[in-house]
Amino acid sequence: MFLKYLIGLLFLTRRGVLTLLSPPVNVTVKSVNLQSELCWSPVTNDENVEYTVQYRVNRKSSNGSSKESSDHDDWLEITECEATRARRCNLTSVIDVFINVTLRVRARDGTRTSPWSQSSPFKAIDQTRLGPPIVKLWPIPETGKLEVRMRDPFHRNDFTHDLKYRVYYKKEDSDWMMYEDTVSTVLIDKFEVGLNYCVKVHYIWRSKLRPNSVPSTPKCAIISESETARSIRITWITASLIGLLIGVLLLVCICTGTGNYDKLKQALQAPLRIPEHLREFLSGEEGSSTSNSSSNEEPIERISLVTIDKEVAEEELSSTPGHT
Ligand SMILES: *[C@@H]1O[C@H](CO)[C@@H](O)[C@H](O)[C@H]1NC(C)=O
Ligand SMILES: *[C@@H]1O[C@H](CO)[C@@H](O)[C@H](O)[C@H]1NC(C)=O
Ligand SMILES: *[C@@H]1O[C@H](CO)[C@@H](O)[C@H](O)[C@H]1NC(C)=O
Ligand SMILES: *[C@@H]1O[C@H](CO)[C@@H](O)[C@H](O)[C@H]1NC(C)=O
Repeated sequence: MFLKYLIGLLFLTRRGVLTLLSPPVNVTVKSVNLQSELCWSPVTNDENVEYTVQYRVNRKSSNGSSKESSDHDDWLEITECEATRARRCNLTSVIDVFINVTLRVRARDGTRTSPWSQSSPFKAIDQTRLGPPIVKLWPIPETGKLEVRMRDPFHRNDFTHDLKYRVYYKKEDSDWMMYEDTVSTVLIDKFEVGLNYCVKVHYIWRSKLRPNSVPSTPKCAIISESETARSIRITWITASLIGLLIGVLLLVCICTGTGNYDKLKQALQAPLRIPEHLREFLSGEEGSSTSNSSSNEEPIERISLVTIDKEVAEEELSSTPGHT
């Protein structure tokens, strides 16, 4: 801190004006998803201090070495951040993402002006932190495939074809595998039905994994069986179960039925008679119950009906042969 004051003091002394206004410190560009701003920290807490921001384009000279511009001609004013009281300056719409720039900021307090404080070179397309890409999984059961749809948390402009998505997938607990590089949707068809798969997406820039970017958090999906495949499977299982049952029954009949044919016939006939009688009995009772509910106002008639029913029932019971 003391050193900063000293530098400010020396600089201004050289110009012949003695002032104690210090230049801003920690002049850095913060850039996420192509939204960039220059930030700095003031050395004084004086609210009246205003800041001015300028930038310079860094060009490479013809012999390949970077050309350092002289201090007074190439610097351009950022009008949006002229005489600002804020401690940040929005660069997003001012500086093209493909241009390599250096920025500088200075403080002014009435008549006093601080020396400039310079940032490191900045080129948004290379240095901005990109991501994470927004990933959506769409399992398609009809085809047993998984559609992976990607979106960016920023606006893609003319760099679409240099910036791609690298799609990775993994099956349950195995390792990540690369699927492909794409600029849009991919359809993964290597999946087995019923297993859990996870997918993550990284940004690649000019065919290399982009260093300063955040991959998507893994998303997982189970590739379910298609409706038609499922019904075909269920039909097959049902059909084979019925077949098996018929086979077993036939086998039982052949083994036991041949020796005891008469017993079997009796056993099959006996239960057939009882339901016939029971049906009559029950239909009689049903009639009584309906009249019961419909003739509530005439209790005498109801009683007489019950008596008739009882008689019929007794008659039927006594006349039933083989019922002991
Ligand atoms: C500048 O940044 C450094 C390191 O990040 C920090 O320790 C320091 O406090 C900052 N200075 C001011 C004035 O905020
Ligand atoms: C090449 O770069 C050097 C070092 O920056 C510089 O001195 C020289 O003038 C450059 N030559 C040309 C032809 O630009
Ligand atoms: C920007 O320019 C500077 C100075 O010419 C150079 O050192 C730096 O590597 C460049 N940055 C990028 C990302 O090209
Ligand atoms: C910076 O400017 C851009 C474009 O004008 C705008 O979309 C963005 O919201 C601004 N950022 C902030 C932090 O104000």
